[in-house]
Amino acid sequence: MNYLKTDFVVMGTGISGLYSALNLGDIGNVTILTKKHLEDCNTQHAQGGIAVALSKGDSWFLHMKDTLEAGAGLCESKSVEILVKEGQKQVRKLIKMGMKFDHAKGELDFTLEGAHSKRRILHAGGDATGKKVREFLTGLVKKKKNIQIKEETFVIDLVNDENDKIAGVLVWDGIEKEYEIYQASAVVIASGGCGQIYENTTNPDVTTGDGVAMAYKAGSEIMDMEFIQFHPTALYNPGGLSFLISESVRGEGGVLRNEKGERFMLRYHKLAELAPRDVVSRAMLNEIENSNKPYVWMDITHLDSDYVVQRFPTIFNTLQGYGLDMRKEWIPVAPAAHYTMGGIKTDTFGRTNLPGLYACGEVACTDVHGANRLASNSLLEGLVFAYRVYQTIKIEREAKEANESDLIVPYLKNYGMPSLKLGEIRKELRTRMTEEAGVIRNEKGLKNLLDWLREKSELICDTKNVNEDLWELKNMLNVGKLIVKSALLREESRGTHFRVEYPKQDSKWAYTHIIRTFPGDEENVLE
Ligand code: SIN
Repeated sequence: MNYLKTDFVVMGTGISGLYSALNLGDIGNVTILTKKHLEDCNTQHAQGGIAVALSKGDSWFLHMKDTLEAGAGLCESKSVEILVKEGQKQVRKLIKMGMKFDHAKGELDFTLEGAHSKRRILHAGGDATGKKVREFLTGLVKKKKNIQIKEETFVIDLVNDENDKIAGVLVWDGIEKEYEIYQASAVVIASGGCGQIYENTTNPDVTTGDGVAMAYKAGSEIMDMEFIQFHPTALYNPGGLSFLISESVRGEGGVLRNEKGERFMLRYHKLAELAPRDVVSRAMLNEIENSNKPYVWMDITHLDSDYVVQRFPTIFNTLQGYGLDMRKEWIPVAPAAHYTMGGIKTDTFGRTNLPGLYACGEVACTDVHGANRLASNSLLEGLVFAYRVYQTIKIEREAKEANESDLIVPYLKNYGMPSLKLGEIRKELRTRMTEEAGVIRNEKGLKNLLDWLREKSELICDTKNVNEDLWELKNMLNVGKLIVKSALLREESRGTHFRVEYPKQDSKWAYTHIIRTFPGDEENVLE
């Protein structure tokens, strides 16, 4: 085992990982870890943009109001106020640092997305906002000599010191093919969500919930895991990538049509296609159930062709690759898992309940999204809370000289099973999560799924050997159980969590969060 020292470990290369690392680089040495490559993160795929109240006639107050409304009574207003107010500052700062957002007639161009009362979404490269932001921040990070980026490095576990402080991580270096321990005075988890535990997802392959799983094992509080946002308009592409058709396509006038060609959303909500995502997703599934097709249509053919190509180059080109011309043809779309609202519970400073451990971005639950995230608030959250994590670590470091203590060296368990079997379980997990813990849930399905998850977990516990697919699968099973148990407990429907037996919001659940911790939870976790 190789022992290495750094001041700060940051896990993840999306907006929150890069922005926290960039700032932490001002006060010490940073090691950024990613299990695949820099571009393998959800930020890379964010199309719509970054919501910020900077357009004329907009205000942080209106942005806050929209965010609270979308969150369906579960957001913490203090955290949301921080998000929208500090968001304005951080976005201005990003622009000052050189980030180029799209302009129209010499002014920043703001688009509209669902449940926003104003046009407030900044975008870059048309529909390539996340990619542009990630590239911009990567460029800055790479200029800092004291920030090391380690790709193909799988973080297996958090490591404690003798005072029970999180003081490092145990990793598998996939290039050197060796285990390593990084000792650090602070560990920041910014490793994104868990879209991959569902069959259809807009998220890349890496999103297997590793951050939540490792924090849970270490004793972190995990909150709101029953809330998984499904994006209504992902390309219907069975067996392939559920490529995102940005909400901004609907914001710019795209409409949804059923099998008969009818614009059905007008029947479901006054905001039609721009209703909250859970409303649109359920309406689509209802239309699908009453038709002979497993999808509905997205129609943008009435817009000027040149404008469509210039405004949505990524979507246009990707669809062309699938033989679809969005200028002339309707696009088949269906809901796909998109965003994990729950995660590692943090305070507004990005601190978890474990000393030495911080979290930001999608992996964290800062209480700003509640039961349903407002579109394009995620990149903003990444910026704001990554900066807060940096500020907190800086203050704590100034207040207390880092005193090193011995690490408790983790015991490496030998698990394993034939790869084929792992692949089968992963596939079945994704199908079952979609059917039994997806957009619409019921008690029987959730209970069956929980039994299945427990049974598969036992199977894995009993075997020997080590591999990355296995570590991911363990994390997926642990996170699956967190989602399902929380979904069973919440006997109401709120935001993205819809229970057939309890189809209405219940006031007794308002402001009530489900928080799970281990040990303390009745469940055994796969260690
Ligand atoms: C989109 O472009 O529709 C995604 C935006 C988001 O999920 O915030």
